Amino acid sequence: SVKQMEDRVREIKEKFGDRLYIPGHHYQKDEVIQFADDVGDSLQLAKLAAQNKKAEFIVFCGVHFMAETADILTRPDQKVILPDLNAGCSMADMANIEQTQRAWDKLTELFGDTILPLTYVNSTAAIKAFVGKNGGATVTSSNAKKILSWALTQKERILFLPDQHLGRNTAYDLGIKLDEMAVWDPEENRLEYEGDIQNIKIILWNGYCSVHQNFTVENVEQVRKNDPDRKIIVHPECTFDVVQLSDENGSTNKIIQTIKNAPSGSKWAIGTENNLVNRLIKEHHDKDIISLNPFTCNCYTMNRIDLPYLLWSLERLEEGQVVNQITVEKEIADNALLALERMLTIK
Ligand code: 13P
Ligand code: SF4
Repeated sequence: SVKQMEDRVREIKEKFGDRLYIPGHHYQKDEVIQFADDVGDSLQLAKLAAQNKKAEFIVFCGVHFMAETADILTRPDQKVILPDLNAGCSMADMANIEQTQRAWDKLTELFGDTILPLTYVNSTAAIKAFVGKNGGATVTSSNAKKILSWALTQKERILFLPDQHLGRNTAYDLGIKLDEMAVWDPEENRLEYEGDIQNIKIILWNGYCSVHQNFTVENVEQVRKNDPDRKIIVHPECTFDVVQLSDENGSTNKIIQTIKNAPSGSKWAIGTENNLVNRLIKEHHDKDIISLNPFTCNCYTMNRIDLPYLLWSLERLEEGQVVNQITVEKEIADNALLALERMLTIK
């Protein structure tokens, strides 16, 4: 039964004490989050993994790229485990290293040494390594503006991987015009741009989040029509039009803080993964909160991690067996670390 499984998780956690650390991303299910030692957005979880010196086993309740990041940021003797190896991220899968290298060859041919790569942390370790090797940094949704500003002090133009929406929304916030941004099509290996390419400042990889793109302009218009007093806050992985029409946008952590600080009685529609939205609804009875689109906005891969998988990986640990360990090859890890450390130290 559920109760028996929960009791077992508790028992194993107690047995391992500080030797076991369970970080949980905000999009995880409640049945998993109840056992997380820390809950956070991807930046917070990366920092917490880097700071943790005691844990021998890090059972990461999130998706594959987050577990890879944790492995890169921790010591070799600290083992990172992903309770279900199928918990990937469809956006991270939209840029592979071969396509990226091919794009880079073409772009450096077009633009010479005037271009710097940045990658959203939602990417493979190999892409992070490529970025690190070429002088760039990783970004998350909570520091994208700061890191992109820094990048633009380094080079005239930026290749932003793999999320076109986060890239476009962030660049636009920094005053870069839409006609100074081009989209890179990795299938065709070409830039989508009309006009003089020397005007391009941002090259956006054409990836996107299949969850966040389900929030539409129609959803926003519906809320505005039904309830003009309701404020709308969305994650910057939503499309440019949706972000522009919303009242606010920000990382999962910013969304949580905004709702926490909002006055009692205020009304909100939130555009992000529904496990988080439902948790906010439960935690804030004094506020009227709805999802901007309640029907299709669960992250299927985040949801792969559930109580049975968590328990399964912990019970194997109890038996002395490490299952589903995520390890990043040393050369890739060293270069990816350059990109992550730049992100963590840029002020
Ligand atoms: P955060 O950086 O806001 O945690 O978002 C991670 C993510 O995967 C959003 O889809
Ligand atoms: Fe990836 Fe989107 Fe899921 Fe985040 S919500 S893990 S970006 S697929």
